Amino acid sequence: MPDPARVRAMFGRIAGRYDLLNRLLSGGIDRRWRKRAVGCAGTLEGSVVVDACCGTGDLALAFARAGARVVGVDFTPEMLRIARPEKPLERGLYAQGDAMRLPFRAAVADVASIAFGLRNVEDRRSCLREMARVLRPGGLVLVLEFGMPRGRFLGAWYRFYFTRVLPRVGGWISGDRDAYSYLPDTVLDWPTATELRAEMASLGLEDCGFRALTGGIAYLHWGRVPA
Ligand SMILES: C[S@@+](CC[C@H](N)C(=O)[O-])C[C@H]1O[C@@H](n2cnc3c(N)ncnc32)[C@H](O)[C@@H]1O
Repeated sequence: MPDPARVRAMFGRIAGRYDLLNRLLSGGIDRRWRKRAVGCAGTLEGSVVVDACCGTGDLALAFARAGARVVGVDFTPEMLRIARPEKPLERGLYAQGDAMRLPFRAAVADVASIAFGLRNVEDRRSCLREMARVLRPGGLVLVLEFGMPRGRFLGAWYRFYFTRVLPRVGGWISGDRDAYSYLPDTVLDWPTATELRAEMASLGLEDCGFRALTGGIAYLHWGRVPA
């Protein structure tokens, strides 16, 4: 179970290189994954989106560009210090806060999203419950997270890249080898997409589903709070 103090300190250390490393290590595909997440939410004009674990703001900004009013929440001030000037939200804001105790009343949002954050919170069930709490009836929970591709060729190649190459390159550029070893460690320890879907359904979410992105390197999960 991730230790929040350690996670916050780690993202504080790598914040300055986080975006560069995302683009580099994913070959830019991460932008496409976030676009898929936004597309999954349908028409967003006038909707309210809470983006939990917003980090440097990539997903929050993508939602804002699609017409939503967005509040991005993250507990690492260094990440927000990059989000605020570099990815300003025309009709929204970034707030420091804990994704397991979102600083909002119940039933205020239409979409609650989390990209590459659920793996980092201390208790993912509490976090998902909290995301559901802030949603209006019928609201959508969206989770974007890494997976491990299973195909024989892609699976073997990716496992090598993810466990051997990525920690070295990430560690070298960020100056923090631990942070980029933590990534594969937590992904290898992550439930399968089917298990996570069942977990979301067990929390009372309806119409739960998922889609593999780029052969299963990432997964987009969704579920709705009952209408
Ligand atoms: C891998 S980054 C993802 C950032 C962003 N969503 C993205 O797609 O690039 C994970 C983020 O989760 C944040 N985080 C982890 N646990 C958190 C918590 N309990 N509450 C708020 N933010 C948290 C970290 O500070 C970090 O910015």
